[in-house]
Amino acid sequence: MPQKIIIDTDPGQDDAVAILLALASPELEVLGITAVAGNVPLELTARNARMVCELAGRTDVPVFAGCDRPLDRALVTAEHVHGQTGLDGPTLPEPEMPLQDKHAVDFIVETVRATDGVTLCPLGPLTNIATALRRAPDIAERIERIVLMGGAYFEVGNITPTAEFNIYVDPQAADEVFRAGVPITVLPLDVTHKALVTQPRLDAFRAMGTPIGQTVAEWTGFFERFDKEKYGSQGAPLHDPCVIAWLLRPDLFSGREVNVEIETASELCLGMTVADWWGVTDRAPNALFIGDVDADGFFGLLTDRLAHL
Ligand code: RIB
Ligand code: CA
Repeated sequence: MPQKIIIDTDPGQDDAVAILLALASPELEVLGITAVAGNVPLELTARNARMVCELAGRTDVPVFAGCDRPLDRALVTAEHVHGQTGLDGPTLPEPEMPLQDKHAVDFIVETVRATDGVTLCPLGPLTNIATALRRAPDIAERIERIVLMGGAYFEVGNITPTAEFNIYVDPQAADEVFRAGVPITVLPLDVTHKALVTQPRLDAFRAMGTPIGQTVAEWTGFFERFDKEKYGSQGAPLHDPCVIAWLLRPDLFSGREVNVEIETASELCLGMTVADWWGVTDRAPNALFIGDVDADGFFGLLTDRLAHL
């Protein structure tokens, strides 16, 4: 039976590739896509999510708008990485499929209450997930697993010296999610910075000869400049597709069950994921923290699936 998932997302070119990978994979049943404010404001993330569904020919997948700002702080966005629309690079038509009337948080709560075995896949700030848990604490024991992109250990931060963007935007939400007692898998920068769209991999996207291959090549060709300039990377890091790839092929990844806590007080280190990687505290493990990926295996999976979408 396919794994039932809800993708919670702030597209974002890398989110968009993750959504395409999920829709291209029969092992997964995407019950819905919930948009959250993050890379760009909510109106744009909700627009972008529908554009990706239309690109994939999947207007059957319902898209919901969620929270338009973090729980208790102003929204911080990342147009400097993803462009003004959040999906800069190729020009895609404005979406025609409707946005669902229901709020994303209500969709998450109602779906988890009604359906066994739902996995939540947050690809942006955790505001929608934390709000759902606040509104319906009963869903915590019903959620199969939360598989999220966020945080860092060795790689530390990409938006501040100590914090990764998704966690930094809403540290309070992240703290509440990590304390909720739900099984969690974390795909941090330590992994996603190894999933780089090098030139041969970019060429492989283009070589598909399909609109999706061309679009993915143009998305990654656009948002690579931030990481190339900052880190000297050999290409765009495909952060969010690592979440979907872990669901499909966990054997491509390795990690440890460790305790992860979120810094929510210090302005200097706000949003830092403090992962007890070496077990130096007596804090109980609460997450499978992924540390490594077979990058060639990841790109082989991604390219093969996108080519057949
Ligand atoms: O730090 C990378 C994360 O922040 C990715 O999910 C990217 O899409 C942005 O949301
Ligand atoms: Ca994202």
